[in-house]
Amino acid sequence: MDGSLSSGSLVILALMVVAFVSVPLHVEARAFFVFGDSLVDNGNNDFLVTTARADSPPYGIDYPTHRPTGRFSNGLNIPDLISEHMGLESPLPYLNPLLKGDKLLNGANFASAGIGILNDTGVQFLNIIRIWEQLEYLEQYQVRLGDIIGADQARQVVNEGMVLISLGGNDFVNNYYLVPFSARSRQFALPDYVRYLVSEYRNILSKMYDVGARRVLVMGTGPMGCVPAELAQHSRAGECSVELQRASDLFNPQLNDMLKSLNDEKGDQVFVAANTMKMHMDYISNPQAYGFITSKVACCGQGPYNGLGLCTPMSNLCQNRDVYAFWDAFHPSERANRIIVQQMIDGTQNYMSPMNLSTILAIDSKF
Ligand SMILES: *[C@@H]1O[C@H](CO)[C@@H](O)[C@H](O)[C@H]1NC(C)=O
Ligand SMILES: *[C@@H]1O[C@H](CO)[C@@H](O)[C@H](O)[C@H]1NC(C)=O
Repeated sequence: MDGSLSSGSLVILALMVVAFVSVPLHVEARAFFVFGDSLVDNGNNDFLVTTARADSPPYGIDYPTHRPTGRFSNGLNIPDLISEHMGLESPLPYLNPLLKGDKLLNGANFASAGIGILNDTGVQFLNIIRIWEQLEYLEQYQVRLGDIIGADQARQVVNEGMVLISLGGNDFVNNYYLVPFSARSRQFALPDYVRYLVSEYRNILSKMYDVGARRVLVMGTGPMGCVPAELAQHSRAGECSVELQRASDLFNPQLNDMLKSLNDEKGDQVFVAANTMKMHMDYISNPQAYGFITSKVACCGQGPYNGLGLCTPMSNLCQNRDVYAFWDAFHPSERANRIIVQQMIDGTQNYMSPMNLSTILAIDSKF
C-alpha cells in the first residue's frame, strides 16, 4: 500500500516536473525582440555614456509612471503598442539588469537611439549600440536563455518570436545630411548612397535570419523632411524639406524590393514591410482628420515649430499631448504612434506587405 502510493506520487511528481518545465514555453506568450533606433529604443541608452538619451522630464509625462524611461515619447512607443496588442508585457531593455531569469522569456529590446544601418552613423553620440552589436546581443541572449531552458528551446523561442526593426532615418539625418558636405555626401550621390544603404541592410537582415529570426516587421523611414526639426531649419511656410523627402522616396521602395527578394531567397514570408512613410503621411497631410491641431509644431521644444534643440525641462510644453502629432522635434506622440500601430495591425497591403499583423498572428497561431 505504502509502496504503491509512493510510486504513484512519484509518477505524479514526474508529470508535474514535466508540466512545470514545459509550461513557460507553450502557455506563456510569444517573445518579442526589438532592434533599431530611437523610434523603438525603450531605455538601453540610459545605461550608456551617450548624449542620445530621453532620461529627463518631460519625457514619459504620459507614461503610466509619469516618469522618463528612455523612450523618445511622451508615453508609450511603437513596440509598447505592438506588445499591448499581442497581450504581452513590453520586453525590457537588454542592458537593464532586471532582464534575467523568467523575464528573458518575454524577449528583449536591443534598440539604441542614434544608430543606423552604417557603423559610422551616430558617431557623434559616442557610446551607442550599433546594429551589428545588437545582433551579437541576440546571440548572447540565446545563450543566456539556453542556460535556463536548454539550447534547443532557447532557439525555438527566438524562431517563434516576433521581431521589429527600425533603421535608416539616422543614416540620412545623422550622417549624410548631418552637416553640409559631410564625408558620406562627398563620397556618394544620393541615389548611390541609398543603394549602398539597402545592400548593407540586406546583410543585416540576412544575419538576423541566420541567428534565428523568422518573423520580422521592418519599418521604413518616416517622412524625414516633415519633422519639426527639419521645418525649423529649412522651411519658410511649413513646407517639408524636398531633399529629405526625396531621400525617403528613394529609400523606401528599394527597401521593399530588397525584402521581397530576401523572402524569395529564404522561401518564406519572413520579412514584412511596414510602410511607415504612408502611415505618417496620412496624418501629416490631414492632421485635423486624425484629431490633431497640428502636425508641424512639436509639443516639446523651442524655436520655430518647437523644432530646435532638445526637449528638456526648460522647453515649451503643450498642455494636451493628444492633439500634437509630434512629441519632440523628431519623434511622434503616443497618439500618433497609436495611429501607426493600428495600420500595422489591420492596414491594407498599401500599408503592410505582404500582410498585416492580424494576418500574421492568425497564421502563426495555427502552428
Ligand atoms: C560594421 O561592423 C561590423 C561589426 O564590427 C562588421 O562586421 C561590418 O562588416 C561593418 N560594416 C561595414 C560596412 O564596414
Ligand atoms: C488586415 O487585417 C484585417 C483584420 O484586422 C483583415 O480583415 C484584412 O483583410 C487585412 N488586410 C490585408 C490587405 O491583408
